[in-house]
Amino acid sequence: MSQTATARAHTNIALVKYWGKRDEALFLPQNGSLSLTLDALFTTTTVHFDPALNADVLVRDDALREGDEAAKVTRFLDLVRQQAGFTHRARVMTRNDVPTAAGLASSASGFAALAAAASRAAGLDLSLTALSALARQGSGSASRSIYGGFAEWRKGEAPDGADSYAVPLVPPEHWDVRMVVTVLSAAPKDRSSREGMRHTVGTSAFYRGWLDTVEADLAAARAAIAQRDLEALGTVAESSALKMHGSMLGATPPFTYWTPATLAVMHAVWDLRRAGVPAWLTIDAGPNVKVLTSPAAQAAVEAALAAVPGVESLIAAGPGPGIRWLEAPVLGAD
Ligand code: PMV
Repeated sequence: MSQTATARAHTNIALVKYWGKRDEALFLPQNGSLSLTLDALFTTTTVHFDPALNADVLVRDDALREGDEAAKVTRFLDLVRQQAGFTHRARVMTRNDVPTAAGLASSASGFAALAAAASRAAGLDLSLTALSALARQGSGSASRSIYGGFAEWRKGEAPDGADSYAVPLVPPEHWDVRMVVTVLSAAPKDRSSREGMRHTVGTSAFYRGWLDTVEADLAAARAAIAQRDLEALGTVAESSALKMHGSMLGATPPFTYWTPATLAVMHAVWDLRRAGVPAWLTIDAGPNVKVLTSPAAQAAVEAALAAVPGVESLIAAGPGPGIRWLEAPVLGAD
């Protein structure tokens, strides 16, 4: 057993969203989803299994982490230990190359990097498919960060989740699109995606309507990607995101991740489109708006978004790579 391994995974943004689980324990989704992996935002993680440890240790961004965050990592490492057939505890050192003020969820890149590093350190030689299914059990969206470019998470049908994993659609070189992320507020989101999904699935009058449109959205997105049709992809991405957020407004009690600045950015994107600039928005379980555009329009989009009150900063990204293993470990504080 090699005991130590380091891996890097990039975050992804869903263009056809995942919202709602059919099995909470196994992280099985109600619907399929499709995403773009981003070059600018990634997580690097080293896992070292050490027989001398009597508890897992988590160091993230040079600080020891305890509580919920560490408990999630231990729960995930237990899956790896179970597969590998040993009980050694691990030291996990992880670094997020996501601007810290971004308030962006790093769970996708985080659990993808952890799955790759922990499985290799445990001596498991998993296929990318098996790695995707493993990452899924840390955070659903992490299943897609195993692959670069565009990827699709197939929801699967099997009760044990064996067929619920992501598949690569096209590599990053296929199509140079841009995603401009607006960073609106560093305030932590007040409702996790897990909680938000559960509440929506359980109570929303609109949830069924959301589910009914997903298969058609997936087909439209796949076709748009194959044809490199930005307008078609942007249209379906914006529609998917707004239907997902609409399902939250239909919950009892209703809730939203939007802030006034979110809405201001949305209007700025619609103004850009009216002026003939190709720009379409998507929003996840937080206030930040992500804008899909072309390399040629990126500067115009950035200028317009930077001028919106409440926008603190922008991060521009292109298609990024899939999971990879590195030689040098992440060094963390003791
Ligand atoms: O798997 P999680 O907990 O990161 O949830 C992801 C939920 C959304 O970001 C809103 C949609 C998606 O498909 O990534």
